[in-house]
Amino acid sequence: MAGTGEVWPQLFKQFDNIHSVIAVDISTGMHEKAMLRLHKHRNHKIQFVEDDILKSKLPKNSADFVISTFGLKTFSFAQQAKLAKLVSQTLKPGGVFSLIEASDPKGWWLRPFYRFHLMVLLPIIERIFLQGAKDFAMIGKYTDNFGDITQFAKLLHEEGLEVNQTKFFFGCATGVSGKKPLNHPNRP
Ligand SMILES: C[S@@+](CC[C@H](N)C(=O)[O-])C[C@H]1O[C@@H](n2cnc3c(N)ncnc32)[C@H](O)[C@@H]1O
Repeated sequence: MAGTGEVWPQLFKQFDNIHSVIAVDISTGMHEKAMLRLHKHRNHKIQFVEDDILKSKLPKNSADFVISTFGLKTFSFAQQAKLAKLVSQTLKPGGVFSLIEASDPKGWWLRPFYRFHLMVLLPIIERIFLQGAKDFAMIGKYTDNFGDITQFAKLLHEEGLEVNQTKFFFGCATGVSGKKPLNHPNRP
């Protein structure tokens, strides 16, 4: 769910030994525009694959790392389970992963204001200033349905991965990161 690859600059800045990234997204248009506008000088390092990630045939035990930002929240439990399996299969033993998603900050005293921001303000701002865009029309609903990353973290754990969960900004986003153990059963 690479989208416009907002995270790639940080990735290449922090890890200058990254040789190439395989970016998977179901939408080619988004990727092409992002490559022209944001990533011209690093396009030799990005290989794009147009695919539904849930049907992906990425080679097993092939990736040093898997990352995904803000692509999980529309997935059902069954789809999250497929994705967890794919992450586990695609990583090399010893490979690492990190995923983050917008979440419902349950228990935070400012949660009602945050929800108002997601449900009402963001869609209005989008309607007024970004004519035609519908990126934020459903974000409140999706975030409500998603909850947080706990369920996905459990699925990754069940796939035999080592898993750590992190809360960002009082739980407005949650992340899961970790590693495929060297002795994972589906090593090559
Ligand atoms: C909210 S955007 C996140 C984009 C980017 N990761 C970011 O942080 O800016 C979600 C992306 O997931 C892609 N997407 C949704 N369902 C997908 C699927 N089943 N397979 C591959 N990509 C998918 C969409 O095309 C979109 O680019």
